[in-house]
Amino acid sequence: MCGIIGYIGNRNAMPILIKGLNRLEYRGYDSSGIAVMNDSIQVHKTIGKIQDLESILPDQIDGTMGIAHTRWATHGGVTDNNAHPHLSMDKDIAIVHNGIIENSSAIRKILENKGIIFNSETDTEVIVHLISLARKEGLDPLDSVRSALQVLRGTWGLCVMFHDLNQIICARNGSPLVIGLGESEMFISSDPHPLGEHTQKVVYLEDGDIAVVSNDGLSTHRIEGSTDHKVVTIEEQWGESELGDYPHFMLKEIHEQPEAIRQCISGRTLLSEGTARLGGLNMSKRTMKAIPHVRLIGCGTALYAAQVGRLAIEHLARVPSFAHVASEFRQNDPVIDPKALHFAVSQSGETADTLAAVKYIQENDAKVRGVINVVGSSIARQCGHGVYIHSGPEQAVASTKAFTNMVAALNLFALQIGRSRNLPRAAGRSLVKAMRELPSQTESIINSSAPYMDAVQAIKDAKSVLFLGRGFSAPVAREGALKLMEIAYIPCLAYPAGEMKHGPIALLEEGSPVVVIAPDDIQRDKTISNIQECKARGAKIILIHTEGDNIAEHGDVCFTIPPTEESLSPMLSVIPLQLIAYYTALELDRNVDRPRNLAKSVTVE
Ligand code: AGP
Repeated sequence: MCGIIGYIGNRNAMPILIKGLNRLEYRGYDSSGIAVMNDSIQVHKTIGKIQDLESILPDQIDGTMGIAHTRWATHGGVTDNNAHPHLSMDKDIAIVHNGIIENSSAIRKILENKGIIFNSETDTEVIVHLISLARKEGLDPLDSVRSALQVLRGTWGLCVMFHDLNQIICARNGSPLVIGLGESEMFISSDPHPLGEHTQKVVYLEDGDIAVVSNDGLSTHRIEGSTDHKVVTIEEQWGESELGDYPHFMLKEIHEQPEAIRQCISGRTLLSEGTARLGGLNMSKRTMKAIPHVRLIGCGTALYAAQVGRLAIEHLARVPSFAHVASEFRQNDPVIDPKALHFAVSQSGETADTLAAVKYIQENDAKVRGVINVVGSSIARQCGHGVYIHSGPEQAVASTKAFTNMVAALNLFALQIGRSRNLPRAAGRSLVKAMRELPSQTESIINSSAPYMDAVQAIKDAKSVLFLGRGFSAPVAREGALKLMEIAYIPCLAYPAGEMKHGPIALLEEGSPVVVIAPDDIQRDKTISNIQECKARGAKIILIHTEGDNIAEHGDVCFTIPPTEESLSPMLSVIPLQLIAYYTALELDRNVDRPRNLAKSVTVE
């Protein structure tokens, strides 16, 4: 997803902007560019990686104000001309933008009829020409931006530089922007990540805000009128966000799971009472007891964690629970019960589909709690209350440690609400003990030698791979399929194991790889039947099972996990799937951390 960096201060802007773009790389992009103000606005931009941009930059560009951008193509192909920044015709105004302008085609036609010549296919370019026309009609920079925004329909996070103004004007509507307050210098970014090394004091722009940023401060305004802003301090929750000695962020983040789980559960379990304590939910025991049902909403990996969460809540608390695809939620005209509990599950806290669902629920007088990794993110702030999963920065596009911590957080909630109802203390204590074992158990899985290369050989040339699981393992099958698809580009199908015989079994032929997740739980025996159905058609079984279980005799390539509680097993069984996907992608020479076509945070619907 696009990334924005801005700087105004007393230092040379170029190196600060480039370093900021590098810190935003994990968002995914296909081109980048920079604009620095000196005698005129100097613009350099190109397709490819940031190092490709650096290769076309002069050694030095003097100037203490600038904006920069990484583009993830939406309107218009991946070309140098479509890269941001974009300039007005007189080259006196430059803009970078994240979001989608839904009425850009109509505006473009009007502007072309006025003689405007476009240099790109992008929706963004219409904004800079609207601003330029307003300036020519005599409006000041702030009002010219205001008048342009009043015409737009869609989403934006944008920064505008004017040749005759020593300020940067920013605006937000649906695409996040955060402003960092330094000493006689200011920073602008799409997310707080690149700001941490400069300042902990930030202002999060809200939808409809416009900010005028100069090197000694900012003023905030609205499209109509003005507003105030709140300076908050971002507690640097993040651990180490550098690659360190790892070859890829994905492998680093897989290995960080034991510590991440510790961070997530630390201080949140009470062994003596056999319960959990999630203060951030801001819910009394009485409120918890009265919840009629729970709805969990997410996308991709977060959705699969939500599917585990809903099973855990029903299993432990006996409260009806439902997991929904965020992009389908409000479109299906759901019945929203204000007494129900809603969770928005999201690593980045910026996923547009999930944020839109949150707003829909709130518009229907119900509350939403976040289960979020990025502190201070849009969804976290929109929800107001919730649970931070404390995974630390997750920079690989393929989510790993966020999944395990989302499942952990939802288990904590399921335990807390279960104990507020009829879950016996002994059952609660058993779950707490099992949770406290997880860090060492995940450590043992990650560090144990296992037949990954045998699995890679079975998978790497397959036409497709079938992932099967029952009960708590069905969402794990979907997560494992997603990992393999998104970083190895292998077509995968994830199905409840019992459903496979109702169709997908037709895919099987001699040597077809079938990945089966079958921990030692109540689903085990029936899953063995499904394994046999697959083997009878020549399938090669890659089996994830509990250590010591003689189910191993049914597998061709076996991976073992330690025993744990049923609702926690996804946190263990997912790890071999993460590593199988990782090693397969390596074998196929894929770009593991930056897979094609994907962004880390999808901030467009
Ligand atoms: C998972 O590996 C993918 N990167 C993707 O499916 C991701 O989980 C999804 O876009 C949701 O992101 P979020 O958790 O930041 O909301």
